[in-house]
Amino acid sequence: MSASISGFSKLSKSKKIDWIVDTYFSNTEDAKRILKQYWNSNDKLQQLHDEFVENTITNYYLPLGVAPNFLINGKLYTIPMAIEESSVVAAASKSAKFWMDRGGFKAHVISTTKIGQVHFMYQGNPETLKNYFKHIKSQLIEAAKPITKNMEKRGGGIVDVELRDKTQDITGYYQLHAQFETQDAMGANFINSCLEQFAKTFKDEALNFDAFTAEESDIQIVMSILSNYVPDCLVRAEVSCKVEDLTDDKTISAEEFASKFIQAVNIAEVEPFRAVTHNKGIMNGIDAVVLATGNDFRAVEAGVHAYASRNGRYSSLSHAKIEHGIFTFWMEIPLALGTIGGLTGLHPLVKLSLELLHNPTAKELMQIVAVAGLAQNFAALRSLTTTGIQQGHMKMHLMNILNQFEATEAEKTTLVEYFKTQVVTHSAVVEAIHQLRIKNEK
Ligand code: HMG
Repeated sequence: MSASISGFSKLSKSKKIDWIVDTYFSNTEDAKRILKQYWNSNDKLQQLHDEFVENTITNYYLPLGVAPNFLINGKLYTIPMAIEESSVVAAASKSAKFWMDRGGFKAHVISTTKIGQVHFMYQGNPETLKNYFKHIKSQLIEAAKPITKNMEKRGGGIVDVELRDKTQDITGYYQLHAQFETQDAMGANFINSCLEQFAKTFKDEALNFDAFTAEESDIQIVMSILSNYVPDCLVRAEVSCKVEDLTDDKTISAEEFASKFIQAVNIAEVEPFRAVTHNKGIMNGIDAVVLATGNDFRAVEAGVHAYASRNGRYSSLSHAKIEHGIFTFWMEIPLALGTIGGLTGLHPLVKLSLELLHNPTAKELMQIVAVAGLAQNFAALRSLTTTGIQQGHMKMHLMNILNQFEATEAEKTTLVEYFKTQVVTHSAVVEAIHQLRIKNEK
């Protein structure tokens, strides 16, 4: 039976667990055992994880896989990927290996500007507001100096602040629209602190601006917050090769493969139902690296999908073409990532993942993440336009089905061998386990 509770956050971890299992589970001992089996035996490490979020009762594991052989701008990487879905790491690895032999991936950062806004309401004369903004702009930046001085030492800071009139959308609605450079930090805390200071200065100083009437000087701040839409924090990833070098698959010619591949991309460019799945495939690679490196995958997801809709229709993030016999496949995406701050210096596996990537700058990480997305998309499209997705995906998913049926190590060995020459489907695996167990009983 469900129940509400007051003061839950103040309970100890073990009392929280008692309340959860007593309230929601019939087998309380079993529920407790499952929760506790994920606790780390190292108390300090466990406490670190407990303190990442609130009301922690246990750890939720995701596998950390690695995809080797990524040649990016001439440098070799092994990319860490935290993901639960089978075949993603294998697909990235296969793509990496394929492109390593064809010059590798090229990537470059196009821009790194991030955005934050103070949303406010003002019902007076728009011209007087514009004059007030001109008058106050340098003071806004000056008042934020205690927050920006360290970032400025690292070459970042406030790039610009502008006043935006949004009264066509909502009566009386205006913004301070600010651009920031945050160097190797994702910058959310920095940006939000600057914005809250802008809002305070902007509101307080309005009371001293002579041209305002008493009513006009009462500016109503609604909120101050960064935007996760970062169309000017862009990275480009690309692969290219001669069309004739495009396949090592004997069942399809390179020209036919290139043409089908480009058709598949073109379909994702014009058809939103396909574009969403196409981009989901890209995000398989992107999210996995974003998670492994301790970055905010919700922010990345929201920003990337907004970018995919920037022309009014949700569309493919990647593009492909053939020009003068050269096949090129590329993608430009917005990525606000950090390699300092947040979890990057706290989570031991995040630190390890960053070290595995040669401790990249934020710009280098943007390139690596974009490449992981493009590689993933290449692998998925290659399968989709040749064998179909199920063959490879189910081959990788075999172990999950075997685990679902609690296959023993001996059964796994036999069945993995058997399915090297058979098509893996859920029902085929179930049938094979069944037959094997009948045979073993005899
Ligand atoms: P394969 O040709 O059967 O693999 O491909 P292989 O056994 O010949 O091995 C070739 C290479 O693949 C290996 O080289 C590895 O790099 C990699 P090696 O290490 O031997 O030198 N590889 C593996 N890496 C790690 N562990 C493994 C493993 N097996 C192969 N066990 C593969 C098999 C799955 C790679 C291929 O079929 C593939 O790329 N499929 C695409 C899978 C995919 O895209 N999965 C994502 C989930 S489906 C989805 O969510 C997205 C989608 O809807 C998006 C869209 O619609 O666009 C499809």
